[in-house]
Amino acid sequence: MSRGGSELDVPRVRGLFPALSDGFVHADGPGGALVPESVGQAVSQAMRVPIADRGGVFPSSGRAEALVSGARSAVADLVGARAAGVVLGPNMTTLTYGMARVLSRTWRPGDEIVVSRLDHDANVRPWVQRAEEVGVGVRWAEVDIETGELPAWQYDELLSERTQLVAVTAASSAIGTRPDVAGIAARAHQVGALVYVDAAHAVPHLLVDQRELDADFLAVSAYKWGGPHVGAVVADPALLGQLWPDQLAPGTDRVPDRFETGAPPYELYAGVAASVEHLAALCPDTTGPRRARLAVSMAAVGRYEAALQRRLERGLRSLPHVQVLGAAERRTPTVSFTVAGRRPRQVTAQLARRNVCAWDGDAGARELFDAFGVADSGGAVRLGLMHYSTVEEVDHLLQCVADLR
Ligand SMILES: Cc1ncc(COP(=O)(O)O)c(C=O)c1O
Repeated sequence: MSRGGSELDVPRVRGLFPALSDGFVHADGPGGALVPESVGQAVSQAMRVPIADRGGVFPSSGRAEALVSGARSAVADLVGARAAGVVLGPNMTTLTYGMARVLSRTWRPGDEIVVSRLDHDANVRPWVQRAEEVGVGVRWAEVDIETGELPAWQYDELLSERTQLVAVTAASSAIGTRPDVAGIAARAHQVGALVYVDAAHAVPHLLVDQRELDADFLAVSAYKWGGPHVGAVVADPALLGQLWPDQLAPGTDRVPDRFETGAPPYELYAGVAASVEHLAALCPDTTGPRRARLAVSMAAVGRYEAALQRRLERGLRSLPHVQVLGAAERRTPTVSFTVAGRRPRQVTAQLARRNVCAWDGDAGARELFDAFGVADSGGAVRLGLMHYSTVEEVDHLLQCVADLR
């Protein structure tokens, strides 16, 4: 494998995104990344050739089969897992609801689960709602609101012999915090609990490795890294083999297929594979297997984004009318803040007038914003940087926020 050219050539990278020609600063990446041309092309090419359903003996059916395995192996490479354990579905939320239904079948009244206040609600409510249905206790891991950290040590107290499941995020899409998932998982496994990790926000910013995180289940969503609207949950195929989700009578018993219902969006699966290839090819001089190329390119993404993040956060923290939420030691280039005297929606409206796309609200992390005490006042403004963001864009963002004074 060659390691040449292992820094991002950002002008080249930006040229891969036709969407960047709209003249806006896209600081809304945590809500959904821009899509590279190669992904759009892959989707449209898949729609220009005959594709039938899987399982037939004719070429258009074989093409569908290839698209499914192409998407599975791409997601597997992205998170360091086996393609045979990749369950595809419409999005992370729907898949997590499905997994919660299956996993909760063995829960008994008096059992417990542990969820966190750092998580997006998609990794909270599906578990809490099943727990309430079954009579299972819900324990909450708390965020230190000074630092934005989710301390791993608190799990020593939260876990018991009755804990069935721990749901935790690999990175918060609201404030960027990256908890010590491996430390939490080690504690959970000591009491025999399963660990369900939301890696939707982590995957676009770092090389995620399911084994390193020690996650029994890892959930992702392709539109967060530049792919189409397709989600995936990844697990050990042997673990999936012990679970029996609802299926139609003519459905299949095979793993992971038995976790997928109905006709899949084959053309979008072509886009999933292309989007992982986009990430793997960000340092185009690097050669070798896709996972190895991803290791090089995601390291370059991490270095580049960290520099932008430092600049953005230093600038925001220097503004007396800005209050940044959290400052965890390890975090993605995603920051939420409030502006004195203005509601977050007023701020994002002002930013939009200056060609900035930015979200306001609770970033889907209702529990976290409640903990910060800002949920009832419109939440916060969130700025998220991606590998296609630039220093000039960061400076424009800072100028816009400074001018709100
Ligand atoms: C961290 C995180 N997890 C989960 C989700 C839900 O993903 P999906 O839209 O694929 O259901 C989001 C979406 O915003 C998210 O940011």
